[in-house]
Amino acid sequence: MTFPTVRLRRLRTTPTLRAMVRETTLAPSQFIYPLFVVHGSGVFDEISAMPGVYNQSIDQLAREAESLAELGIPAVMLFGVPDHKDPTGTENFADDGIVQQAVRTLKAANPDLLVMTDVCMCEYTDHGHCGLIRDGEILNDETLDVLGAVALSHAQAGADMVAPSGMMDGMVGAIRAALDRGGYQNVSILSYAVKYASGFYGPFREAAHSAPAFGDRRTHQMDPANVREALREAQLDVDEGADMLMVKPALPYLDVIRRVKDRFDLPLAAYNVSGEYAMIKAAARNGWLDESRVVLETLTGIRRAGADLILTYHAKDAARWLKEAE
Ligand code: PBG
Repeated sequence: MTFPTVRLRRLRTTPTLRAMVRETTLAPSQFIYPLFVVHGSGVFDEISAMPGVYNQSIDQLAREAESLAELGIPAVMLFGVPDHKDPTGTENFADDGIVQQAVRTLKAANPDLLVMTDVCMCEYTDHGHCGLIRDGEILNDETLDVLGAVALSHAQAGADMVAPSGMMDGMVGAIRAALDRGGYQNVSILSYAVKYASGFYGPFREAAHSAPAFGDRRTHQMDPANVREALREAQLDVDEGADMLMVKPALPYLDVIRRVKDRFDLPLAAYNVSGEYAMIKAAARNGWLDESRVVLETLTGIRRAGADLILTYHAKDAARWLKEAE
C-alpha cells in the first residue's frame, strides 16, 4: 500500500492527534538542574556567558529549592566554587566545604529534592586539574583516594547521589568502596562515564573557575572522534558498580547516547552543557532563534536519542514552557 491510499499527513491534522501519536515525551521530571554555589552571603551573580545562570551563596538556596519544587524539577547537580585552592583541593572533602554546606541547606529546605554532587578535583585545585599532579602528570591511582574521600564527605552531608566527572580509571569502584566502608550503601553513583574533551565546557570553566593552569584534559577525557571506546568506558563503570550512566556533552554526541542506550540497561543521563546553552542564548538574544521553541526541540532531540534524564541549564525555563503548553 502506498500513496494515495497512504497519507502520512492524516495523523498530523490536529494538535490532539499529533499529541496522541507523539513518540517522545519531555517533562520536568526528567530534568536535573545544575547549581553553582559560592561562599559569602547575598551573592547572586549572573555568569556572563550563561545568561539566567548564577553563582549563588548558601542563603539563596532555600528559595531555589522552592522554585524547583514548584516547577516539578526533582533534582539538582551541585558544583562548588571554593574560596581557597591548593594542590590536593582540601575544601573538596572538608566537612564545612561549600558543597557540604549547600547539601545540608537544600535537604533542610526540601527533603524531597534529590541532591546530586559533582565529584571532581578541578574546581578545588590550584592547578585546575582533575587529579593530583606530579612532574606535570595527572596521577590516576593516587587521585582515587581523594575522590573516595570527597564522595564520602558529600554522603555525610546528606547527598543522595554522587557523580564522579573526572574520567579517572577506576573512579567508580573506588567511590563505591569508600561509600560502602563508610556505611553509605544507599548513596548511589551517577557516573560521567562517557565524557569527551570538549570545547563546549568553556562557559562552565568561567563559572566554576576551573580552567587548567597548564595543559588540557585530553589525557583523561575522551577523544571526540571515538564511539567504540565510549562503550568500553561505560562497561567499565557498569562493572565497578555505577547506578546510572552519563554521556557528555549531548548535542555533538547524540549517536553516542543512542549507542550507550542500546547496549546498557542502566538509566542514562545526558549533559546539555554550558556551551550548548550559551549558543542558544546568544542566538535568541540576537533575535536569530525563537528560544522556547528551539530549547524544547533540543531537549526532545536528546530524549529521542535515548537519554532518560537531562542535565540542563534550560531546566527551569523549559519546565515553565511545558506547563504553558499544557
Ligand atoms: C568537571 C566538570 C566540568 C563540567 C561538569 N563537571 C568541566 C570540565 O570537565 O572541564 C562541565 C559542565 C558544563 O560545561 O556545563 N568538574
